[in-house]
Amino acid sequence: MQRLAPALREDNVPLDLISLIKTILAATKEISFRVSQAHLGGLMGSTLDENIQGEVQKKLDVVANELFKDILLESGFVKAISSEEEDTSVAGEPKGKFIVSFDPLDGSSNIDINSLIGTIFSIHESRPELAADDPDQFKQAGHKQVCAGYVLYGPSTMLVMTTGQGTHFYVLDRTHGGYLLVQRNVQIPQDTQEFAINMSNQRFWQQPMQNYINDLVAGDTGPRGKNFNMRWIAAMVGDIHRVLTRGGIFTYPADNKNPNKPYKLRLMYEANPMSFLVEQAGGLAMTSQGRIMEIDPSDIHQRVEVIMGSKNEVTKCLSYYQ
Ligand code: AHG
Ligand code: MN
Ligand code: MN
Repeated sequence: MQRLAPALREDNVPLDLISLIKTILAATKEISFRVSQAHLGGLMGSTLDENIQGEVQKKLDVVANELFKDILLESGFVKAISSEEEDTSVAGEPKGKFIVSFDPLDGSSNIDINSLIGTIFSIHESRPELAADDPDQFKQAGHKQVCAGYVLYGPSTMLVMTTGQGTHFYVLDRTHGGYLLVQRNVQIPQDTQEFAINMSNQRFWQQPMQNYINDLVAGDTGPRGKNFNMRWIAAMVGDIHRVLTRGGIFTYPADNKNPNKPYKLRLMYEANPMSFLVEQAGGLAMTSQGRIMEIDPSDIHQRVEVIMGSKNEVTKCLSYYQ
């Protein structure tokens, strides 16, 4: 099995980007270790703080954020970072060529039940005309990402990453301490009989999503004429990993549960990087109005509707909105 850096050189990834990726992965190896030791190291449970989005921070959210932030800001490659757990963007090296957005721990509600969690990251080139402390650095659409990925702290610690030349799977090999390429050019099956949505919000969805899900649940006696299975891991990293591995549709649609918060998932460090991975694997990543990666961001914590996965199923779902 091929090691990470030679695999990236084979894809002609520039050396400075490879160095940044290795820096990010150094942080994930440390987070992977801390996650595995969380019970023993007193890192279970919540802090007394909330992040800017009003969510209670888990101890591991904070630890993972500090690890990621420190290693990136000290690397010399990074002009600024933005994170789910930081109120605003944080300036780094003024001449840094890249900016990084990240969700240090995705699936926080799974921490205390020893279930699936991960780290999501998204890399853009920095804008030389803007200062490092200018949050407008981050107002770049998803299609301008130069790299995106996530690390899943599951039974294996897995890296799933794209630099725009396909989506590849890597596994952390603890015997030599690095990531090994296990699957190149992952392809999402175009058709599926599996969907992922938090069904408990059903009564709050817009009518098109209600109609679509009703037709899936109706199974082989309904208009789709086939049975569908449902899965919900409550960690986007886990649900998208399943979609990349065996197909499926994943959605967190608009809902009116809280009128001030019609969407749940965050554009910069959840929807955009996952969209890049899904599209590079032959899937679609959409809102009901268009392609996620075309959205011009207005805020580093903005939220967005997400409908992504197997191409034909996402297209089918979107047809209910027309
Ligand atoms: P985070 O733990 O980083 O706040 O993200 C959780 C997100 C996402 O990973 C997951 O798909 C979704 O929230 C789960 O939402 P529900 O709580 O509605 O299941
Ligand atoms: Mn998240
Ligand atoms: Mn998170």
